[in-house]
Amino acid sequence: MAKILVLNGPNLNLLGTRQPEIYGSTTLAMVETACVDHGKTLDMAVTCFQSNHEGVLIDAIHDAKGIQDALILNAGAFTHTSVALMDAISSVELPLVEVHLSNIHAREEFRHKSFIAPVALGQICGFGPQSYLLALDALALHLTAAGRR
Ligand code: DQA
Repeated sequence: MAKILVLNGPNLNLLGTRQPEIYGSTTLAMVETACVDHGKTLDMAVTCFQSNHEGVLIDAIHDAKGIQDALILNAGAFTHTSVALMDAISSVELPLVEVHLSNIHAREEFRHKSFIAPVALGQICGFGPQSYLLALDALALHLTAAGRR
């Protein structure tokens, strides 16, 4: 069974109460449960982790090497700032899908730049919590095509 780590970055622990007009009313716990459940339908074992700290996220990416088959990352605001996260992703050479709840390209200009996108398989944004489930679907197809599951 393929192993997938779903990583969430800063402020995503506040989902459900944080700017619900942008991010909706679904909590992070609900998103994570949906990921685990959807993973089961795809024969994938999903583990979830959230941190508000850049270095902790980097450690989680390093620790995934040799254990996880792929990653899903919503790096929150670090998406737009973190060369260190980009380098961590390049270093572990694991397939990664970048996700966002909101459509970052339809928002402020500073959100249009992603340091994650160049080292990701692809980016899924704008579909609310469904973005994570679409990322799982994409990884299922990718890992199958790559003969890794
Ligand atoms: C976000 C978009 C980012 O610009 C923002 O900083 C977040 C959430 C999203 O999921 O839409 O924290 O990653």
